[in-house]
Amino acid sequence: MAEIKARILSSQVANHVDGTVKLNGWVNIRRDHGKLIFFDLRDKDGLVQVVVIPSSSKEAYEVAQDIRPEYVVEVVGKVNKRPEGTINKDLASGTVELEAKEIKVLNKSETPPFDVTSGGLDIDEEVRLKYRYLDLRRPRMQQNLKLRSDYMQALRQALVKREFLEIETPLLSKATMEGARDFIVPSRFQPGKFYALPQSPQQYKQLLMVGGMERYFQFPHCLRDEDPRADRGFEFTQLDLEMSFVTREDVIETVEAVVVEAVKAVNGKLKNDKFPVFSYADAMKKFGSDKFDLRTEEEKKNGTLAFAWVINFPFFRPVSKTEVSDKYDSKSKWTFTHNPFSMPIPEHIDWFLKGENIDKILTTQYDLVCNGLEAGGGSIRAHTPELLRTTYKIMGYTDKQIEESIGHMLEAFSYGAPPHGGIALGLDRHVALLRGESSIKETMAFPMTSTGRTAVMDAPAKVSDEQLLELKIKFT
Ligand code: AMO
Repeated sequence: MAEIKARILSSQVANHVDGTVKLNGWVNIRRDHGKLIFFDLRDKDGLVQVVVIPSSSKEAYEVAQDIRPEYVVEVVGKVNKRPEGTINKDLASGTVELEAKEIKVLNKSETPPFDVTSGGLDIDEEVRLKYRYLDLRRPRMQQNLKLRSDYMQALRQALVKREFLEIETPLLSKATMEGARDFIVPSRFQPGKFYALPQSPQQYKQLLMVGGMERYFQFPHCLRDEDPRADRGFEFTQLDLEMSFVTREDVIETVEAVVVEAVKAVNGKLKNDKFPVFSYADAMKKFGSDKFDLRTEEEKKNGTLAFAWVINFPFFRPVSKTEVSDKYDSKSKWTFTHNPFSMPIPEHIDWFLKGENIDKILTTQYDLVCNGLEAGGGSIRAHTPELLRTTYKIMGYTDKQIEESIGHMLEAFSYGAPPHGGIALGLDRHVALLRGESSIKETMAFPMTSTGRTAVMDAPAKVSDEQLLELKIKFT
């Protein structure tokens, strides 16, 4: 037989009727009918049925007797049209089957700890994540990660087209005040001092605006030590962006256009191309929540995304005894509701500067909600030292505490910071919404377990005594 060099994919087999082709992939399900052996070969595009007939190839038949699910194989075979009545409309290769001429086992597999061909949602999470590399083989996970990649590319294209630059910012940095606990990393060079992993790139993106970058975006990993939930992880990904010389309406308009373009690019269904806008007060009155769901029952069933904006939130709220981060963030009875770097709405700047009617001051914050989830949030920022300092004064910071906490931002703003604003979208949540998944873990390659253990690698883990000694860390 002439050697066939190029491998083709399961999605292409139907274009080669009567030809001889080579495929690589995993053995999905094997059925031994005695005189015939069938198995489905699985690759990144799907399945193709392989039929192994002893009279067609004795060698292939002998190999097929020993192969098991999840073996990695190379199959050379002839593409035959399937007889009428055996056509499988669910498969791209459903009109054909591959008559094996040669089968090579490229690698064997132990019996997997769970079925990788099912949806997998009924399998224990700890087991799924311990063997995440197997769990990722199931079609649902393949499709979720493919959609995630496609959506990211579509967002990226929509932003690059609008002259945004993709810029990375550091992971090892200082506490950022996004309202959660920080993950901290000890410094070896300066024992007793710690880096904080970013809860978001908030301050760096504002410093990029001071640096004249004007339009920035990235897909940052954000790290927040808060109790994980279905829509919340220790580690998650944002689409983070910031723009100079803009109003609240400019940012809303740009973000809306980018989201609509990207959702359409991945064939998502939108309730409205123009997202309705609600004030926080109206939303609370109408829905009793600022994370409301505008879908009809029918739209809930057909996977529609119903986006809306919420604006005019209170800037400050009284400190809560149960929110742990409040005691780190605030020194008075007031703390910020969303973001300490925000600007009040123009009508309330006077109250703000005078420290009057604190409970009535509204912020320029805008939240993007979708199907009952907070899908994003941002604001126009306080871009002068005076404005930013005022927020911290209201939160009871002394001059010394302000200097320690955000002195670098005040200094940066003293060198001609442009007016600016931006937003961060929860990428994992967007993908979960697009795929109808109820947990963001289903959209991440290697999420953590609910108890905060990493997939496959099983961290947090102990470190050696030598490492601790070098860091001058002792446990008490
Ligand atoms: P915020 O904290 O609102 O804003 O985060 C932006 C969006 O990120 C998503 N999100 C999360 N997703 C998964 N797990 C989490 N733990 C988690 N926390 C938040 C939500 C949220 O709307 N720096 C500001 C943005 C800005 O003002 O530009 C920020 O991070 O969808």
